Amino acid sequence: MNIAWQKNKALQQRAFKVMPLGVNSNFRFWGEGITPYVSKAKGAYLWDADGNRYIDYRLGFGPIILGHADETVNAKVREEIEYGTLAAMTGELEIEVAEKIVKMCPAVEMVRFACSGTEATMHALRVARAYTGREKVIKFEGMYHGFQDYTLWSTYAPVEAYGNARSPIPVPSSSGIPKLLNELIITLPFNDTEILEATLRNVGEQVAAIIVEPCMGNCGAILPVRGFLQLIRKLCDKYGIVFILDEVKTGFRIANGGAQEYYRIQPDLATYAKALANGYPLAAFGGRKEIMSIIGHGVAQGGTFNNNKPGVAAAWATLTVLEKEPVMKTIEKRGKRLMDGISKILTEASIPHCMNGYPAMFSYAIGVEKVTDQRSWDKSEKEYYLALVDALIERGVMPDHDPREPWFLCYSHTEADIDETLNVMVEVVK
Ligand SMILES: Cc1ncc(COP(=O)(O)O)c(C=O)c1O
Repeated sequence: MNIAWQKNKALQQRAFKVMPLGVNSNFRFWGEGITPYVSKAKGAYLWDADGNRYIDYRLGFGPIILGHADETVNAKVREEIEYGTLAAMTGELEIEVAEKIVKMCPAVEMVRFACSGTEATMHALRVARAYTGREKVIKFEGMYHGFQDYTLWSTYAPVEAYGNARSPIPVPSSSGIPKLLNELIITLPFNDTEILEATLRNVGEQVAAIIVEPCMGNCGAILPVRGFLQLIRKLCDKYGIVFILDEVKTGFRIANGGAQEYYRIQPDLATYAKALANGYPLAAFGGRKEIMSIIGHGVAQGGTFNNNKPGVAAAWATLTVLEKEPVMKTIEKRGKRLMDGISKILTEASIPHCMNGYPAMFSYAIGVEKVTDQRSWDKSEKEYYLALVDALIERGVMPDHDPREPWFLCYSHTEADIDETLNVMVEVVK
């Protein structure tokens, strides 16, 4: 990247001394000398440590649905924390947030809170195992369900390591993941109905859960092919498997009721985090009463910070805004214009590509006509994509510096931001 960053670079050198890679999440490290550090964020904008302003399409990896430092959310948080930030006791506001989630998400009859998406998926998996009395879990290659060891397999390995699609090899995505867990995980290519059906014919009765992101929110925003989520539902019913829809990215983002509402699909359990509290730490998992009710009856779930007041107050305010204002419609309209605009610019420049995802959360793969799973997406021109991203960032437009991560929109992105982004895109593509 060709930016005169002084403070960003100095902060990175300082951070290197006290934090591995100088960050608190591997995903925030873009490389030495090319990793920005933040000074502030407001609405749809973010300023780096050198004071450069960007139109932010990362939005904290997706949580910011209304806008950074949203006045309504912050006011509610300020009001509520005056009454204490944490109690080892349940409060009324917390019950109201649970009621709102149950009301908004069609498949959720009961819910429990957590602090991060990782915890939400971890708890959901335990509940599914306890409910079925089985231990194996099916996940799809390229999908990410947080940093817990059970599903951090075949997430971002080179796809060559995955073996043949008919008999995929689960590949741990980190050192330190116990080899024994290999026995419990089955990894499959997304959108492949034949392989899914054949796998379940073999081992269906040993599988506790199928966990799936509605779209590949951590690999180029690849959408499910028509009927794929419905097939998962059908097969879960047939084999007595718990269907876990991981809505950590899609929840409260692609519709108020998330992918369940969008696709009219009824998972048994669903997981939430990101947009639930507009950037404050609150997560949740929930679903069918019959399944959730086993919690507390021989099934353990809890967490000191699960009802942290800033998170609960922020969720209350965020969900209230979602209920009252045309957040989804506005984001959809602007996001669609941005998606269509980018596609037109690439087409006019004779750059083959395909657009993926939803207006609120989209991506594009360059050099390929269609992508349906991580294996086909991996054939896209990722270096080229990154070169465009570098040039965009140099000009004040910031998508993630990782081709797998979608562009996210929020309610604060204006028509003028979309215009500016498209103008910059034209310049960059040239
Ligand atoms: C689909 C999905 N599930 C789970 C997680 C983990 O969430 P967290 O980072 O809050 O632990 C993520 C994070 O990106 C995600 O995208």
